[in-house]
Amino acid sequence: MPELRILRTYVDVPDSHTIGSYISRGGYTALPKALGMKPDEIIETIKKAGLRGRGGAGFPTGVKWGFIQRDSKKPIYLCCNADESEPGSFKDREILERDPHQMLEGIIIGCYTINSHKSYIYIRGEMPYGAGIIEGAIREAYEKGYLGKNILSSGFDLDVVLFRGAGAYICGEETGLLESIEGKNGEPRPKPPFPAQIGLFGCPTIINNVETLACVPHIINRGPEWFSSIGIPKNTGTKIYGLCGNVNKPGLYELPLGIRLRDLIDEYGEGIPGGRSVKAVSPGGSSAAVLSADELNITMDFDSLAAAGSMLGTAGVTVMDDSTCMVRVAQNLAHFYRDESCGQCVQCREGTWWLEKMLTNIEEGKGRMEHIDTLLDACYQMRGTTICALADGCAMPIESIVKKFRHEFEEHVRLGRCPFERKTLGEWM
Ligand SMILES: Cc1cc2nc3c(=O)[nH]c(=O)nc-3n(C[C@H](O)[C@H](O)[C@H](O)COP(=O)(O)O)c2cc1C
Ligand code: SF4
Repeated sequence: MPELRILRTYVDVPDSHTIGSYISRGGYTALPKALGMKPDEIIETIKKAGLRGRGGAGFPTGVKWGFIQRDSKKPIYLCCNADESEPGSFKDREILERDPHQMLEGIIIGCYTINSHKSYIYIRGEMPYGAGIIEGAIREAYEKGYLGKNILSSGFDLDVVLFRGAGAYICGEETGLLESIEGKNGEPRPKPPFPAQIGLFGCPTIINNVETLACVPHIINRGPEWFSSIGIPKNTGTKIYGLCGNVNKPGLYELPLGIRLRDLIDEYGEGIPGGRSVKAVSPGGSSAAVLSADELNITMDFDSLAAAGSMLGTAGVTVMDDSTCMVRVAQNLAHFYRDESCGQCVQCREGTWWLEKMLTNIEEGKGRMEHIDTLLDACYQMRGTTICALADGCAMPIESIVKKFRHEFEEHVRLGRCPFERKTLGEWM
């Protein structure tokens, strides 16, 4: 199957981040089209295309935009979520560093659709290079009249502001992100009310992922039928899969939704190094339940992965070969989520802490057999009980690892040590 270059049209193009390059590749031609459409028409177009959010949850973008009361007396905001802190996910950074105007054109069209005159791009603090690129892109868009007052003589005004986070994973959660922009701690809000009703500064707000917004100009230009003809029913369009871990050719692959996981690993990733075999795959960023080697025929789309008890999430695919210690993987995950929990919910604050402690004990040979079921119990208590999905994002992969690789946990306890060889960073790479 040839690699589709729909979003990543910039590959091998010098200075692809500049507005001149973007325009020379057909950029900013969707904007005048969109400005000539009625907002409801745009919403219908996005719905018909079947675009689902690329930030993790896969919520239909057209439906989300339709939630905004466009005649609200309050200002309306659109926030572009460029926080991308999920381990194993690195697709948004690529778009915003290499082709930021695709995202910017999507933001302008989105703002026009929901009647927003101010948009924030929330970028992860550890991406100073990307922040510089976006600042330059915003400046260029103002100079060319794509931002500011009376955009392309349409009467529509829009200002876009870049907001740099301070490096907290929880600020990628949409209401944590809003709190952060408001200058508060990034602590997610209970929902409802949803941001479309009460969002940034108490005003109606849409939050969309970078890749979601980058799809929008392509849909306006090529039509919803084109987009929905790619992929499989209810899971349409291309997806940027980030492939990493134990594969010969890690990288970003833009392919239709619904491709087989096995093909992604074997055909695009060119298999596993050193003649080894796959032990486990995390298919959608660190929060997704892991799949075992006998599940590789699954198709990479929102619904198939949900039906298998996992999720497409960010489509950041991490491959683990048969030399991987799954207890150590679980310990590493628990460490990350414990560190990133905002601490508001007991189940998350305590649960992530206890998971890390128990997993460390097992990994270091100090665990007992009954601890294995205690791990499962802790995961169960954390799921679906908290303000945001971070606790689920910790519990889901760990629960799946314990259930699918229980024999490894038992072996650690029986031997009183980790049976796997410890690798240095250099050996992993
Ligand atoms: C802990 C946590 C972290 C998240 N981090 C991100 C992120 O970095 N980028 C992102 O787009 N969505 C992230 N999300 C999902 C957002 O809350 C939200 O669903 C998404 O930005 C909506 O955009 P979309 O509809 O275009 O997918 C995160 C969710 C959780 C629970
Ligand atoms: S689940 Fe965790 S990160 Fe989310 S609000 Fe509760 S304590 Fe904070």
